[in-house]
Amino acid sequence: MNYLLTGATGFVGKRLVSALLSGGHRVNYLGRKRSPELDSRAAFHCWSAGEDPPLNSVPRMDAVIHLAGEPIAQRWTADARKRIYDSRIVGTRNLVSAIGALKYKPAVLVSASAVGYYGDRGDEILTEQSAPGSGFLADLCVHWEREAFQARNLGLRVVPIRVAPVLGREAGALSKMLTPFKFGLGGKVGSGRQWMPWIHIDDLVRLFIFAAENNDVHEPLNGSSPAPVTNAEFTRAFAAVLKRPAPWTIPRLALKLALGEMSDALFDSQRVAPAATEQSGFRFDYPELKAALENLLK
Ligand SMILES: NC(=O)c1ccc[n+]([C@@H]2O[C@H](COP(=O)([O-])OP(=O)(O)OC[C@H]3O[C@@H](n4cnc5c(N)ncnc54)[C@H](OP(=O)(O)O)[C@@H]3O)[C@@H](O)[C@H]2O)c1
Repeated sequence: MNYLLTGATGFVGKRLVSALLSGGHRVNYLGRKRSPELDSRAAFHCWSAGEDPPLNSVPRMDAVIHLAGEPIAQRWTADARKRIYDSRIVGTRNLVSAIGALKYKPAVLVSASAVGYYGDRGDEILTEQSAPGSGFLADLCVHWEREAFQARNLGLRVVPIRVAPVLGREAGALSKMLTPFKFGLGGKVGSGRQWMPWIHIDDLVRLFIFAAENNDVHEPLNGSSPAPVTNAEFTRAFAAVLKRPAPWTIPRLALKLALGEMSDALFDSQRVAPAATEQSGFRFDYPELKAALENLLK
């Protein structure tokens, strides 16, 4: 298949490009600059979210996987919020509008979203059918998915993937936790009772490709393992795999001072269940946290 990717140069995108090329697919990507780290078989086309993407220079495509977005893990100043919002909402709008102008349109748009869609929900089990929550991230995800769904009016199949914090060595939550935990400085966040969804990077990459290739999938899918854990359980499992103690409790105030309002996201409780994902036939290679961590850390 001919794939067009955005955000191909990021943590998930790099792995997705490798998986698609290994699977014999052709890859074009839209981004702000060419990445020397990406396999040169992936063809680059210059685009930043505020502009119309140059889709006329891209060979006829079968599927679009849209990952681009300003990083969430930063202080949410007014400028950062605007970048986070515009890169996703305006970017998706411009992408869909350019697809609309194509004579030969792709069949499917698989678009990143996030479990932030559900907001802070205590012990409630959150399936793809659950209502969205409230707050900056939830509103962002609702608007992001709404823009992606506009592509349905063009005849595309649209699948938002509500991505949980991704476990991988190169980037994301795990890479940030590794150094303090190795030095025995790890610990739970606040009470540790908040539910923490997660997904192994390899499962997420497989899920994006599954959603692109499976014509029966038409609705959002939770990109989150079937075994979410509380933050305290995650902390214990992580420390056990590293064979290090993690006796500390990181207080809310300390995180607020370090990260500002963004730190609230670390206290949001999201007991996410990938109900539609599993019903669609997708099987997780890493459904359990211990095996996922052992695979990544050993
Ligand atoms: N990683 C996670 O744990 C996680 C969890 C939930 C949701 N997600 C979502 O999944 C998607 C992929 O995640 P990721 O971890 O691979 O993200 P990432 O490493 O931060 O990469 C995202 C890509 O988006 C593009 N980008 C960044 N800032 C941008 C801006 N201001 N305007 C336009 N494009 C911009 C960049 O591509 P170019 O430089 O090539 O333009 C970048 O490589 C993101 O949308 C993210 O929000 C990720």
